[in-house]
Amino acid sequence: MKTILVKATSKDINEDDMLLAGKIIKEGGLVAFPTETVYGLGGDALNSQSSKKIYAAKGRPSDNPLIVHISKWESMDLISRDIPKEAKILADAFWPGPLTMIVKKSDAVPTETTGGLDTVAIRMPDHPVALKFIESAGGYIAAPSANTSGKPSPTLASHVVDDMDGIIDMIIDGGEVGIGVESTIVDLTEGRPTILRPGYITEEMLERVLGPVDTDKTILDNNSGAKPKAPGMKYRHYAPKGDMMIIEGSQEEVVKAINDNVKASKEKGAKTGVLCTDETFDLIEADVKKSVGKREDEHEIARRLYRILREFDDENVTAIYSESFSSEGFGQAVMNRLMKAAGFNIRKL
Ligand code: TXA
Ligand code: MG
Repeated sequence: MKTILVKATSKDINEDDMLLAGKIIKEGGLVAFPTETVYGLGGDALNSQSSKKIYAAKGRPSDNPLIVHISKWESMDLISRDIPKEAKILADAFWPGPLTMIVKKSDAVPTETTGGLDTVAIRMPDHPVALKFIESAGGYIAAPSANTSGKPSPTLASHVVDDMDGIIDMIIDGGEVGIGVESTIVDLTEGRPTILRPGYITEEMLERVLGPVDTDKTILDNNSGAKPKAPGMKYRHYAPKGDMMIIEGSQEEVVKAINDNVKASKEKGAKTGVLCTDETFDLIEADVKKSVGKREDEHEIARRLYRILREFDDENVTAIYSESFSSEGFGQAVMNRLMKAAGFNIRKL
């Protein structure tokens, strides 16, 4: 299959390209598109065949449900039922934005889209290109992140090209995404609202409008014995090809431990990579070292994280060491992704 590649930025959206993207979706095809979090791989959410194609293109297990992307609140009516009052409160506060809500699904949504579940994940992305594309396609776009299953989510169109060229119908290049980690997922179907996946919208932000909110315990700890409620969170996601270890401690200790580990790995024949910060960059010695930005700038760290993990892959790094970051606020989302990339392999000094 020849994949059509077009560009669309917030300021310059070509109407004909959007019409074509919408037509492809209505005919059952797949289109990758930018959002404010990561690139999505879109298909018609109401068409079971489109959802099957998404799973096939990603090589993703079909028990891992997709997020339905909408462009206006009224679209909730067709795809959900018994909408709880919290949903409207959250939509008013955070939509369009990096927040996904789980509610009960209606019969209009095929079980292929929801991985067999009776609930559906819904989000309204805060990106003009995404919103235009969703409207042009009829209003309901099922979309996981546009990466091959198990790889870090795409934050640049070139990442989507690497994974999906020749496999899907079209890729809309909207440049680098703004946030860099996937949306916060909050479950509204069982008692107290519960965060199943942390993201830019933090627990504190949700509590300000909802009152008490719980957080799934498996987010930063896979030893709790609990099973994650978002099926996707159980897979080794967001992972680079190399083995990865996070090292936590004071800056001085961490730099020393990373350099010692790099040396030991090199002696065993590994190609080493280090994910460090502007503060430590000059102190680290490795085959490939990359700074995610300033330690205290979690937004910059989030935006660069997946790109750097992919660059380690491109450079065939086989042993990766990373600094650890604060898990306060938005930092929780960053640490959650880093922990998953490392398979929860963390050494605390
Ligand atoms: O920011 C994002 O959310 C991006 C962009 C493209 O919008 N999308 C994204 O989709 O990250 P994906 O498929 O990579 O992750 C969706 C997650 C999975 O962990 C899945 O298990 C969970 O949402 N999920 C979807 N529907 C669910 C449901 N009904 N109940 C529980 N978890 C659900
Ligand atoms: Mg994903």
